Amino acid sequence: MSFKQIIEESSQKKESNIILALDLPPTELDVLLHKTLMILDAVEGQICAVKFNRHLILPLGLFAGVQKLLKRAKEYDLPTIMDCKINDVGSTNKIIAEHYYNSGFDALTANPFVGWKEGMQPVFETAKQYDRGVILLVFMSHEGSSEGYGQEVFVEKTQLPTSQYEIFAQKALEWGADGVVVGATYPERIRRVHSILGKSVPIYSPGVGVQGGKIEDAVRGGARYLIVGRAITMTEDPLQAAKSLKVTAQKAISVL
Ligand code: XMP
Repeated sequence: MSFKQIIEESSQKKESNIILALDLPPTELDVLLHKTLMILDAVEGQICAVKFNRHLILPLGLFAGVQKLLKRAKEYDLPTIMDCKINDVGSTNKIIAEHYYNSGFDALTANPFVGWKEGMQPVFETAKQYDRGVILLVFMSHEGSSEGYGQEVFVEKTQLPTSQYEIFAQKALEWGADGVVVGATYPERIRRVHSILGKSVPIYSPGVGVQGGKIEDAVRGGARYLIVGRAITMTEDPLQAAKSLKVTAQKAISVL
């Protein structure tokens, strides 16, 4: 089964489109691991997947503490995504992807800026070999995103100026990506990307809550999954926060 199918099945089963960004600020290692496990235990019934970032990989270690978290996510039948934004030359990208897949991650994020040949090609080939997923960045959620992903570039083939992110959305189709990332902070870009991808490639949308993005706007634009970190992990009651976000997303999806 492709990662696209795995996460969709998880989303149907859990009746949730919320992906937990399991990000916590630095603290003592045993406290960090304990707190992270507590949050995962509390919200597992409200989410359809878990996304990791360097917040945990760097202090806990990929083949050390992180293994405990990956094991727990598997026990809850939750797919796991490593948000590593692979962005190097192909030979290095391949090794990064192999480490994350070997450690147990079901999918990883990658940056199409490096191009296909000797860039993304080895990442997609490695994913195929391991039967895992690749999710491409198309338009990031932060303010400076428009400087790169939003710039207009002249496309030689069409002789037309085109937005960089639209080109990346096309590449996601061509390369067979399992998903693309478009910030919830830019619902109009989500809409544009959705018009290019249709139902073939799902849109993952981070930037909900603390970064200012609204679930309803992102879903209306065509986002399939909402990635939420601090609006769950940094609240007094992560379960309540996750529940409420899940219901908001389900309501927004039900009126599409
Ligand atoms: P918050 O706390 O802002 O966390 O809900 C969001 C999580 O998602 C990551 N993030 C992104 N990842 N493309 C990505 O691949 C993006 O545009 C993007 N914006 C935020 C962020 O690092 C955190 O883990």
